[in-house]
Amino acid sequence: MNWLVTGGAGFIGANFVHHLRRTSPGDRVVVLDALTYAGSLENLADALRDPHVRFVRGDIADRAAVSALFAEETFDVVANFAAESHVDRSIEDPGLFLRTNVLGTQVLLDAARRAGTPRFHQVSTDEVYGDLPLDRPDLLFTEETPLHASSPYSASKASADLLVLAYHRTYGLPATVTRCSNNYGPYHFPEKMIPLMITRALADQPLPVYGKGENVRDWLFVADHCAAVEAVARRGRPGEVYNVGGRNERTNLDVVRTVLRELGKPESLISYVKDRPGHDLRYGIDPAKIGRELGWEPKTRFEDGLRDTVRWYLEHRGWWEHILSGEYRSYYERMYGDRG
Ligand code: NAD
Ligand code: DAU
Repeated sequence: MNWLVTGGAGFIGANFVHHLRRTSPGDRVVVLDALTYAGSLENLADALRDPHVRFVRGDIADRAAVSALFAEETFDVVANFAAESHVDRSIEDPGLFLRTNVLGTQVLLDAARRAGTPRFHQVSTDEVYGDLPLDRPDLLFTEETPLHASSPYSASKASADLLVLAYHRTYGLPATVTRCSNNYGPYHFPEKMIPLMITRALADQPLPVYGKGENVRDWLFVADHCAAVEAVARRGRPGEVYNVGGRNERTNLDVVRTVLRELGKPESLISYVKDRPGHDLRYGIDPAKIGRELGWEPKTRFEDGLRDTVRWYLEHRGWWEHILSGEYRSYYERMYGDRG
């Protein structure tokens, strides 16, 4: 199989490339990534030495560059991970999210349609469903839950999902979509909550918890998400959406306290700051369909996954210290400077 993995230098995309090299060493993987602030070749270091892996720097919204790549290569699967992925940044600059997440997806869909690519897989998010109330733990998102996006990020991902499904219905493009809950694990960019809290706690800096810390997310170890994407891209039914989740709902405060315990740091580091505008209260995923049809289940217990993740950050200080010394520092000042 020849895979096109867009966004393969980012958090989940890089984990997916490493995953494919383990599960399918005979497959070829072409990574297309623009290397924005969130992407780095460091995330692919070993993989890039493998002759089965090719890296191409390019923008999924650049029609000419994408056409040129599809003229050079014949792909069996396109797995589209490339996106602007951080909700807080989408509140600062929605336009960039529409360009990459919506128009970029359309450019890839057109290229796959013209080339007759046998499978287009869109990596989407549970955020397209909006949120659930905190006092109704019985409610979960199913694939039938109406789209009800809250942030410019989730609105852009919902738009892309609709385009993917429309290309399936209108043009017969064999496309699938996965909508996954919050991932954590190695290579997670330290603007996202879990790595932000780990790296700041290690430096004894205040941990900015939005609002009261009572919002709930369903955390899934990234390796489990990668296995779900591979299963759906290979065996999922075209035109179908599959929810992916960890059956592991936690309040943010619970997660932050667990991180502090793992690191042996005091809870006095927690600092409550102004809430995120439009902050989704709770995500709760029902992953029954992917279990029933493809036999996928989350395998990693949160306590084990979080311990491994904390260890990874302890053992890869150079990776995140390099990030924290760059452009990211001015972002942190802009985003959190007057929030306390
Ligand atoms: P990330 O921000 O860590 O990585 C995104 C990658 O895409 C980076 O390598 C970046 O350079 C690349 N990219 C951005 N714009 C591009 C463009 N125009 N052209 C080519 N490459 C571009 O994101 P992530 O957390 O790894 O998320 C990957 C995908 O999974 C996204 O589509 C996201 O919506 C989805 N998702 C993420 C989570 C999560 O918890 N992180 C959960 C569910 C779904
Ligand atoms: O649910 C899937 C989504 O999960 C993905 O589609 C997104 O790409 C990914 O970024 C993630 O979105 P969230 O907004 O849930 O993740 P984030 O890590 O930004 O925040 C997790 C929770 O922690 C959320 O309730 C906001 C809160 N938070 C976040 C940050 C960055 C804080 O309390 N403090 C912070 O500094």
